[in-house]
Amino acid sequence: MSKEIGVGVLGYSIGRAHAHAWRDVAEVYHPMKLVPRLVAISGRTKAAVEFEAEKYGYDKVYSDWENLVKDEDVKIVDNCLPVSLHPEPTIMAAELGKSLFCEKPLARRAADAKRMLDAAERAKVKHMIGYNYRFMPAITLAKQMIDEGRLGKVTSFRGSYLTTNTNYDNPETHMRWQFESAMSGYGALSDLGTHALDLARYLVGEVSAVAAAQSTIIEERPESEGSPRKSKVDVDDLTVATMKFKNGALGTLETSWVSPGCMDYLRFEVYGTLGSVRFSLERINELEIFLSERDRGTSGYRTLNVLAKDHPYMKQYWPNQGGGFGWDHSFVNEFHHFLVAISDDAPIAPQGATFLDGYRNCLIMDAMADSAKSEKWVHVQG
Ligand SMILES: NC(=O)c1ccc[n+]([C@@H]2O[C@H](COP(=O)([O-])OP(=O)(O)OC[C@H]3O[C@@H](n4cnc5c(N)ncnc54)[C@H](O)[C@@H]3O)[C@@H](O)[C@H]2O)c1
Repeated sequence: MSKEIGVGVLGYSIGRAHAHAWRDVAEVYHPMKLVPRLVAISGRTKAAVEFEAEKYGYDKVYSDWENLVKDEDVKIVDNCLPVSLHPEPTIMAAELGKSLFCEKPLARRAADAKRMLDAAERAKVKHMIGYNYRFMPAITLAKQMIDEGRLGKVTSFRGSYLTTNTNYDNPETHMRWQFESAMSGYGALSDLGTHALDLARYLVGEVSAVAAAQSTIIEERPESEGSPRKSKVDVDDLTVATMKFKNGALGTLETSWVSPGCMDYLRFEVYGTLGSVRFSLERINELEIFLSERDRGTSGYRTLNVLAKDHPYMKQYWPNQGGGFGWDHSFVNEFHHFLVAISDDAPIAPQGATFLDGYRNCLIMDAMADSAKSEKWVHVQG
């Protein structure tokens, strides 16, 4: 027997991808014990919120986050606001006993992320952060192969997340919250690098120390669209880091939103003593593998098309194998994981990322920023 559970979404930009997935999940994973209902959406501009509500079928609209969080019909609070607005609504929702979903990164700095983690743990509610790439077939398969020991002992990780699909490489792109540390925390690192870092932790393990460099390539931008007045950007456009993992592996991370030609270049390579895997989000349905014993002496990597029924998640999707898996489906899969955790009191981790993962991710980003300032290796706390 299924039961409805009310969802309230704060914000409607990435919030759209969330609304789409909340609507799809019960159909894709039918039958589910909990079926989400889009109860309420909040945003600052009345007409825009009403448009979203009509488009996705939300019952109610709010112009502020507080009233949405307090709404008794809202049992899941899904925070899709700018990063500086992650802590307070999420902490209030925890105190009201709601289940918590929050977009990445958890907070601007680790101290705020810790407050969120503590509130969620005190309230004993389910908490999950939106590292949606963990729920893609190719990445889930890579994780399975690593956990089964098929790559042997993991020795190194190379990760990058580079884009220009936001047009941030254009100096005429005007100021927005992503360029202000008071709202975003860091720049490309908080926006993009945090995803690659999550995959480093997910696939390889905890990071113990980092050495990083950061640069702001476009130092000033128009205050608003077309304005001749300029504002100073105080975040990184580019971060490059070297990482030591607790298990002895070494890694690198590079993230930038000023990288012409890159659309959504989230890429990683994991090398072990017996083989390696490589992935790029720009080729979302492919995983390259090289298993030394089998593939040595051949022409190199085999490219798996991860769309067969025996690949992770694919039996849920389309009847024709090879029909394709898209970015939007990763949100469907992560919400399925979250809803089952609530209905069955099942753990979110290790496959899903909890606020503990969000907090540890923030600790590493803080260590990278400290290292860039001090020009020294920095140990990651915790
Ligand atoms: N998982 C992913 O793939 C993914 C992708 C994009 C964004 N995100 C994350 O989602 C969150 C929101 O990012 P976004 O790209 O949707 O941002 P955005 O600026 O496009 O949208 C922000 C939303 O918050 C609302 N808002 C409320 N108060 C605001 C304020 N004071 N200033 C600005 N906006 C305010 C806006 O109306 C809008 O609906 C961030 O944490 C971001 O990192 C995640």
